[in-house]
Amino acid sequence: MKIIKSSKALYDELNSLKINGKSIGFVPTMGYLHEGHIELIKQARVQNDIVVLSIFVNPLQFGPNEDFDTYPRDIDRDESIAVESGVDFLFYPSVDEMYPSKPTVTAVVNDKTNVLCGKMRPGHFDGVVTVVTKLFNIVQPQRAYFGLKDAQQVAVIHSLISDFNFPIELVEVPTVREKDGLAKSSRNVFLDANERIEAVEISRSLNMAKNMIDNGQYNTSVIKDEINKSLNKTSGKIDYVEIYSYPELKEINHIEGKFIIAIALKFSKARLIDNLIYSLN
Ligand code: PAF
Repeated sequence: MKIIKSSKALYDELNSLKINGKSIGFVPTMGYLHEGHIELIKQARVQNDIVVLSIFVNPLQFGPNEDFDTYPRDIDRDESIAVESGVDFLFYPSVDEMYPSKPTVTAVVNDKTNVLCGKMRPGHFDGVVTVVTKLFNIVQPQRAYFGLKDAQQVAVIHSLISDFNFPIELVEVPTVREKDGLAKSSRNVFLDANERIEAVEISRSLNMAKNMIDNGQYNTSVIKDEINKSLNKTSGKIDYVEIYSYPELKEINHIEGKFIIAIALKFSKARLIDNLIYSLN
């Protein structure tokens, strides 16, 4: 595996591979890799000749009171995981490399952001699409891999790819879970022992909601009330429990078509998100 810190060097390396007909799969991350990321890398490995992983904690997508400084980082561990998972190129730029000066032009997301995490994190998705646009231009992959745990991000990246005509296939990878159902996340390390036990209630309440729907309960207020009741048994503070059409992210009162049930629950040092994307046909 080659570790590359310069955009120009990565671009040049990949360009010569592309000239030789190699396909490129790209996995953008902020590091502190866990099994969710490994799953993205595995899929990229199977579908492409070359796998590029980026690790960059993007300051543009963190608000002033968010956890940019304390976001977990461990590049040595990440490097070993990347090698073991079969990454060919690890792109690990500095903030100065990605943003040598305050950007004059940034991308703005006009829809899908005034709900869920976007509502709580103004400007977050503008930061995400700005860095992803830069990364797409540097790597120019055939395929890009994103985890469905962050389903709103996937919905926004869909729009980025289609609105900006990126010739890139978006590969959506299902959420990887711990044995007890908790969605894998870099932020899980911030849970204390009791919170770790309580956090299972998130996936449990999503399963409960799925059972309700399978048994004919289509009223979204009733389903949300039951989820809220379950989550209120924990010490976490509910940021949101929402049911929207997917990927449009419009509120629905009645379950139909493809939809998402999305939860964000805040513990003392970790805000966890999870979702269920489901179709009624
Ligand atoms: O999902 C993430 O880790 C980040 O939002 C991404 C896509 C790497 C952009 O910084």
